[in-house]
Amino acid sequence: MEPCPRRSCPRRWRRLWRRRWALAAGLLGAALALFACLRQPQPRRVPTTGRAGDEVTVLLWWEPFGRPRRLTDCRRRYNVSGCRLSADRGRLGEARAVLFHHRDLALHGAQGLPRGPPPRPQRQLWVWMNFESPSHSPGLQGLGGVFNWTMSYRRDSDVFVPYGYLHALPQPRPFALPRKTRLVAWVISNWNEEHARVRYYRQLKEHLAIDVYGAQGLALVEGSVVKTVSAYKFYLAFENSQHTDYITEKLWRNAFAASAVPVVLGPRRANYERFIPANSFIHVDDFPSPRLLATYLKFLDKNKPSYRRYFAWRNKYEVHVTSFWDEHYCKVCEAVRTAGNQVKTVRNLASWFES
Ligand SMILES: *[C@@H]1O[C@H](CO)[C@@H](O)[C@H](O)[C@H]1NC(C)=O
Ligand SMILES: *[C@@H]1O[C@H](CO)[C@@H](O)[C@H](O)[C@H]1NC(C)=O
Repeated sequence: MEPCPRRSCPRRWRRLWRRRWALAAGLLGAALALFACLRQPQPRRVPTTGRAGDEVTVLLWWEPFGRPRRLTDCRRRYNVSGCRLSADRGRLGEARAVLFHHRDLALHGAQGLPRGPPPRPQRQLWVWMNFESPSHSPGLQGLGGVFNWTMSYRRDSDVFVPYGYLHALPQPRPFALPRKTRLVAWVISNWNEEHARVRYYRQLKEHLAIDVYGAQGLALVEGSVVKTVSAYKFYLAFENSQHTDYITEKLWRNAFAASAVPVVLGPRRANYERFIPANSFIHVDDFPSPRLLATYLKFLDKNKPSYRRYFAWRNKYEVHVTSFWDEHYCKVCEAVRTAGNQVKTVRNLASWFES
């Protein structure tokens, strides 16, 4: 700090300058005290069990798909306190819950699971975690009797984490529909002629222009899906396979977050209606043929009030797109913290998940 020339600097600064020696001495003293304090052996915090406010350790046995990520602070990010997320296997003994990501489990096999000694603690919860559909989950057999909980997109999981959800707004508020200049978009990276979605697309495009983005189509800049799709009136939210509750970011992010009306191909309409309003989407099953669906989309294109009805719910709800993987880990931690001492083992993992 340069001394201020008299009169040109505020009195407060001048005063501070005069006191600089006192200030320096004070700082030095504080630093010394801190140093001494750090060198003192600290009394160990004795862990107490069962009270709210205790920290629990949730251990990730494998980082999903072998990709290490920085683990989040659940309290800061989601207001879930008392969680320590860790990928350090050295913490196995203290972990209240251990998460096993299915794809990595299938890769390593059951030999990859922790093995004693020491034996598996009685209170420790082993959580099977999977967000792929049964069609893309090899190795489901032989996992009965191993895990205590399941965590997946299925609503009947022990820890249910959907790809997205709607939450009611405290007050209705008007919804502003982005300007629409195009008709139908579809983003697809995993193109497989065997998939029902590709077969349906091939028929639909005979009657309607569809802009296809992704590996086989127009280029899409990473992270620009929502912005690109928001110029379209409709989005083909076609799942890669059809299973109970398997409704992914194709609906939540690509269509809903982009304010495009989803045309869905996935589980049945009634399954979608468990999660979203009946008038928020168009189901391919609503039409006897792709040709008639195309006719209806062209009708909506020309008929603004009918098209706008697909947004009637928007002034009451907000769309939440779930964030991989932080939200999942914090969710499971919250569930662990509020769980009682009930004992449970998942016996028929494959038959449940495939149903
Ligand atoms: C955070 O969680 C606490 C305890 O569950 C709750 O009382 C508080 O309202 C929450 N805060 C926010 C900002 O949601
Ligand atoms: C978890 O499952 C194992 C294996 O079946 C079982 O021995 C243990 O008691 C279960 N623990 C809890 C807390 O449910």
